[in-house]
Amino acid sequence: MRRFSVLIISFSFVAISGAQEVKLEKPPKDISKYYPPNSNKFEFLNSMYSMSTAFTGIFINIQENDWKNAEKWAKNLRDNYIGIGKMVPEFDKSLKKDEVELLLKAVQSKDQKGIKRYADVVGKSCPQCHQRYKITTKVMYHYPSFEVINVEDPITRNQNSFKDHMKKMTDSMKKVRIYIEDGKLDKAQLEGSNFIKRFKAVSESCSECHSSKLSEQLYYGKDMDEKIQLLSKALQSKNKEEVYKNLSYISEYNCSKCHNTHQTVSNIKELLK
Ligand code: HEC
Ligand code: HEC
Ligand code: HEC
Repeated sequence: MRRFSVLIISFSFVAISGAQEVKLEKPPKDISKYYPPNSNKFEFLNSMYSMSTAFTGIFINIQENDWKNAEKWAKNLRDNYIGIGKMVPEFDKSLKKDEVELLLKAVQSKDQKGIKRYADVVGKSCPQCHQRYKITTKVMYHYPSFEVINVEDPITRNQNSFKDHMKKMTDSMKKVRIYIEDGKLDKAQLEGSNFIKRFKAVSESCSECHSSKLSEQLYYGKDMDEKIQLLSKALQSKNKEEVYKNLSYISEYNCSKCHNTHQTVSNIKELLK
């Protein structure tokens, strides 16, 4: 399974969306020079924002008949655009370098037709690259990794990887159901208490990435504490309906919500490794 996913990625990551094929590729390695831990300045991304502003700067000034400033922005666009290939040489050949020079010339000579023509060609080269590399770049260089996060298992006292902790906690959750269905209520009670301990331990990992308690409280707030207490009581009184009711609530408002914001991206990141 592991080899299989690595194999897919080394060529490309292909998903089918409607009739359209969506293709995601890992960006060239050189791009990593412009992201942490190699650089905290995000030079590549900043150059992107500069180009976006420059494009708008050209057209706003032409509309206002301010050709001097239009030229300034056209130069700015040219420099940043050519700069992409200097930062990441593998991107160089896909750039419309002649056209970006011709766009500058057209602005200098107030040639409206030429401006439209070359702005079009240069402009189209932006989404062409974005479709292939933008999402993967974001996932690889902006999203933090869960692989470096450990959780101390409150039952065994081992340091679990985040993923292993998820599995162990899920196992406890499933065993509660199985033992209840099998009529082994004492065992269900014990596994339920393991589940609750493992569940609480997850919340200790939030501060590894979040500096504000507000994020944590969205999934581990007062209401969640209440449901955990109700679950614990239901396990003690062997009230099957109440156990299930509270487990469902926890699944929906803790596990699923957290997975929507963290697990999906984390899984894509793992594929792109
Ligand atoms: C050869 C590839 C390539 C070309 C050409 C390119 N970009 Fe980008 N662009 C990227 C990548 C990769 C990212 C993602 C960077 C990141 O998020 O750190 C990006 C991100 C951006 C962003 C940030 C948007 C967001 O969703 O965060 C803007 C704005 C942008 N590009 C504008 C432009 C413009 C305007 C052009 C054309 C003049 C252009 N780019 C051409 C690769 C390219
Ligand atoms: C490996 C790093 C990492 C860990 C660990 C982590 N998160 Fe996050 N979380 C993120 C990232 C990245 C985002 C997207 C927003 C951002 O960049 O801050 C996010 C977003 C969120 C959001 C959306 C609202 C917001 O605050 O931006 C919530 C809520 C949240 N996390 C809760 C939690 C809870 C609860 C835990 C612990 C159980 C946790 N997170 C653990 C990285 C992490
Ligand atoms: C930080 C928020 C967060 C909370 C809360 C959370 N999870 Fe997860 N879960 C994740 C992330 C992130 C992954 C992916 C980890 C990885 O693949 O390295 C994951 C992965 C998993 C997996 C897949 C493990 C595997 O084998 O790949 C299972 C199963 C799981 N979680 C179950 C649960 C259950 C059950 C709960 C609630 C009781 C829960 N999780 C609560 C973030 C969370």
